Amino acid sequence: MAPTRSMRSDLKGVLRAFRMGATWQLAQRTKDPERRMARIYSTIPSDYLFADHSTYLNYGYWDAGCTSLDDASQALAELLAEASEMAAGDDVLDVGFGFGEQDVLWARKWQPRRIVGLNVTPGQVAIAQRRAREEQLTDVLDFREGSATAMPLPDASFDRVLALECAFHFHPRTAFFQEAYRVLKPGGVLAVADIMPRSAGTERTAIQAPPLVWVALSFDDANWYPQDVYVDKLLAAGFTDPTTRSIREETFDPWRRHILAKIADPAFRRRVGPVYHRVLTRRWSDQEQLKKDFETLDYVVVVARKPAA
Ligand SMILES: C[S@@+](CC[C@H](N)C(=O)[O-])C[C@H]1O[C@@H](n2cnc3c(N)ncnc32)[C@H](O)[C@@H]1O
Repeated sequence: MAPTRSMRSDLKGVLRAFRMGATWQLAQRTKDPERRMARIYSTIPSDYLFADHSTYLNYGYWDAGCTSLDDASQALAELLAEASEMAAGDDVLDVGFGFGEQDVLWARKWQPRRIVGLNVTPGQVAIAQRRAREEQLTDVLDFREGSATAMPLPDASFDRVLALECAFHFHPRTAFFQEAYRVLKPGGVLAVADIMPRSAGTERTAIQAPPLVWVALSFDDANWYPQDVYVDKLLAAGFTDPTTRSIREETFDPWRRHILAKIADPAFRRRVGPVYHRVLTRRWSDQEQLKKDFETLDYVVVVARKPAA
């Protein structure tokens, strides 16, 4: 019997799942934290994302009336740009830029002079560079491979440094604070959308729900501290006027409910194929554990300033 189209696509799905699983295993065994990060992120193909029309990789900001992850993720990117007081003509650094989706938005809506992006995942850098060409934004968007903790950039060269849902990965986050301080111009602003435990008493190993496996694998050990310690570390790096705003109510639970509905949506099942869909269904089966784990986490927008000269 000749293989039908659905048999062929099932076989493709199995091979893809096998490749993803192998890369994931390799990532778990990779000692160097940045290489591990790059391997983990290289397992996420852009067509397996939960967003439909964009390539954001964040929980989103679910304000009233928001019904898609595309809109929620865009709202989060807008919230962070506003928190950083981004303005036309600025020199902006975006660290951990994913596929660069927020940079296209910021370039068009805020009209900075340039946005330099740093990311340790080579596959994402290549996709973002292609996107910049397609959007005809190469005069503004400059996506580079590089690390948040050893920035290949000169001192005092940026008005804003932004990190959208990624600083918990950095090895460690305090080295990023020092680098952000170094590359900011006097008076420049650091704005971060970040994840942390709600209290010092929460153990990282207590997070058990499979959709949060990234907490065990890619949340740097040294970064596991709550808001008050976070602020102390910013002050120690030289920053002034730190502010924090928890947006956990507008991130974790609305995202959880949205993804659950998404997995049940036949159009999503068709897009990702039956094999990956089965993996997701299994991974998302224990909602009580997921809710319990999210209760222990905070999602915070943090802003701080380098003192003016
Ligand atoms: C959760 S994704 C967020 C991506 C994007 N900001 C967004 O909101 O869609 C985290 C990103 O951080 C990047 N990353 C992790 N560690 C990094 C490091 N040390 N330096 C630069 N980028 C890093 C990953 O490659 C990935 O692109």
